[in-house]
Amino acid sequence: MNQKEAFENRLNSLRQTEENAVQKQHLKGKLTARERLNILFDEGSFFEIGAFVEPYQTTIADKKTAFGDGVVAGRGLVQGRSVFAFAQDFTVSGGSLGFAHGNKIAQVQDMAFKLGAPIVGLIDSGGARIQEGVRSLSAYATIFRNNVRSSGIIPQISVILGPAAGGAVYSPALTDFVFMTDKTSFMFVTGPDVIKEVLNEDVDMEGLGGGNVHASKSGVAHFVYDDEEHAILAVRKLLAYLPSNNFEPLPLSTNVQFYEGRQEYLDRIIPDDANRPYDVKEVIQILLDKDTFFEVHEKFAANIMVGFGRLNGKTIGVVANQPKVLAGTLDINASLKGARFVRFCDAYNIPLLILEDVPGFLPGVDQEHSGIIKHGAKLLFAFCEATVPKITVILRKSYGGAYIVMSSKNTGGDFNFAWPTAEIAVMGPAGAVKIVHRSELSKAENREELEKALIDKYKNDIANPFRAEELGLIDEVIKPSDTRNILITAFDILSNKQYSPLSKKHGNIPL
Ligand code: HXC
Repeated sequence: MNQKEAFENRLNSLRQTEENAVQKQHLKGKLTARERLNILFDEGSFFEIGAFVEPYQTTIADKKTAFGDGVVAGRGLVQGRSVFAFAQDFTVSGGSLGFAHGNKIAQVQDMAFKLGAPIVGLIDSGGARIQEGVRSLSAYATIFRNNVRSSGIIPQISVILGPAAGGAVYSPALTDFVFMTDKTSFMFVTGPDVIKEVLNEDVDMEGLGGGNVHASKSGVAHFVYDDEEHAILAVRKLLAYLPSNNFEPLPLSTNVQFYEGRQEYLDRIIPDDANRPYDVKEVIQILLDKDTFFEVHEKFAANIMVGFGRLNGKTIGVVANQPKVLAGTLDINASLKGARFVRFCDAYNIPLLILEDVPGFLPGVDQEHSGIIKHGAKLLFAFCEATVPKITVILRKSYGGAYIVMSSKNTGGDFNFAWPTAEIAVMGPAGAVKIVHRSELSKAENREELEKALIDKYKNDIANPFRAEELGLIDEVIKPSDTRNILITAFDILSNKQYSPLSKKHGNIPL
C-alpha cells in the first residue's frame, strides 16, 4: 500500500467510526461527538487536532478501539472568537478515558491555557478506561491539574451529554460551569449497582445523578436543558458574556435596548406590606438591557438569584435576594451559590450588581448543624475579597449579618444605594421591639397597642434608609425609576477601578 492509499484508508476508518456512532447514538436519543461540535462552533470553523491518534496498546486485547481514541478535540470559533473543545465519543469504549484519549484532552487544555481561550468539554464517558489501569488514572490526574491551573485564567465549561461516571465527574466539578441534559445525562462517583451492593439502597441512574437532580438538589449542575441542542446553544450564549481570559476586556454589545416604559413600575413594585413577596427577577429584567438576563443555577437555592446580564451593552454579574422563596433568607445553599458566582465574576473582571432584600440568615437546628456559620462565611469572604466594581441597591429588607454580607459599604462596596422602601437595621421591627422593650412590654396592660406603637417608632427612627444615608453607609436614597440611569453612570465612574492586593500565596476561604 502506498502512502496515498494509506491516507485514504485512514480517512475511511474515521468515516466508518462516525457512521457507527451515528447509528448507536441516535438510537439512544443522543448526538455524536462531531454533531455536538458542529452545534457549538460557527459553521465550518472547527480545526481538529489528533484525529489519527491511536489508543495505547494494553496487555488485555481491546479490539474495539478506533482512530482518535474516542475523543474529538480541537479549536473552533464561537461568535467569531477562538474556543477550544473536546467531545468524547461514547461509541468507542464507552467514551472511557485511556492514556491517548487523556493526552489529547490535556493537549487542548494546554493550548487553551497558552492562547488565553475558553475551553468546553463535551462529556459522554464511562470514566477511567479499565483496561489501561493506572495509565488512565495518570491521564485524569494531568487533566485535573490542568483544570486547576487554568482556573481563573480561562473560562472552563463542561457539558454532560451522557454518563459521567467515576473520574469523569471530577474534571467537570473543577470547571466553572456544568451543563446537563434531562434524562440523557448522569453524573455519579459510584453507580446504582455499587450503591445496591454496599448500602442495599435502590436507586436508578436518573434518581441518583440525572440532570434535574444535580441542577436542583446537589447544585453540581448550573444548567439543565431538555435536549442536547438547547444545552450546547446555551453554552454559546454564555460565552457571549465572558471575556476569553482574565486579561481580556469584556465583550461589548452595541445593540442596546431597554424597557423604557417600565422604569416607573419600579416605583410601585415593592408591596406596602413588608411581609408580602414580589419577584426580584422582574426588577432585574427592567433594570438590565432588554432580554439580556442569563440566569445561572436557576433551580438551585432559588432564594438567591444570580446571573449575567448587560447594562448599557456591558456585561455585569447580578446577585439578588429573591423574596418569593424562603422570604429571600440566606441559607447554606444560597451562600454557596452566591459565593461561587461572586468569585467567578471577580476572577474575570465582571462588575457586580447586588440587589438586596434579605431578612437575615435562615434560622434552624438543621442549618446550624450543617454549618451555616462556615458556609455563610464563604459569601462574606467572596464579597470582601472581590475587587471588581460592586454596586449594591437595597430594595427593602437589609437586616443584621445579611446587611453586612451583601456587599455593604464596609466590606468594600463601591456604591451603596437604597430605595425609599429600604429597612436597614440590626434586626426586624417585631423582634427588636420584643428584645429592647421586654420588661416594659411584660408590665404593660395594653401590651398589643404598646407593641404596635413601639414597632412604628422603630420603623420611623431606625429601620429606614435615611439613618444609614446620614452616616454615609448609603451613598444615596434613590427613586426606583431612576435606578437604571444611576447604575449606568455609577458603573461608568467605576470602570477604571484598579486594585493591587498585597502579595500573598492565597487567602484561606472557609471551605
Ligand atoms: C472501559 C468501558 C468503560 C470503562 C464502559 N465501557 N465504561 N470500557 N472502561 N470505564 C465500555 C463497555 O464495556 C461497553 O463496551 C461500552 O463501553 C458501553 O458500555 P455499556 O455498559 O454497554 O453502556 P451503558 O449500559 O450505557 O452504561 C454506561 C455506563 C457503564 C453507566 C458508563 O458502562 C458503566 O457503569 N461503566 C463503568 C463506570 C465506571 O465504574 N468507571 C470507572 C470509574 S473509576 P462494549 O465493547 O460492550 O461496547 C474511575 C477512576 C478515576 O473513573 C477516579 C479519578 C478521581
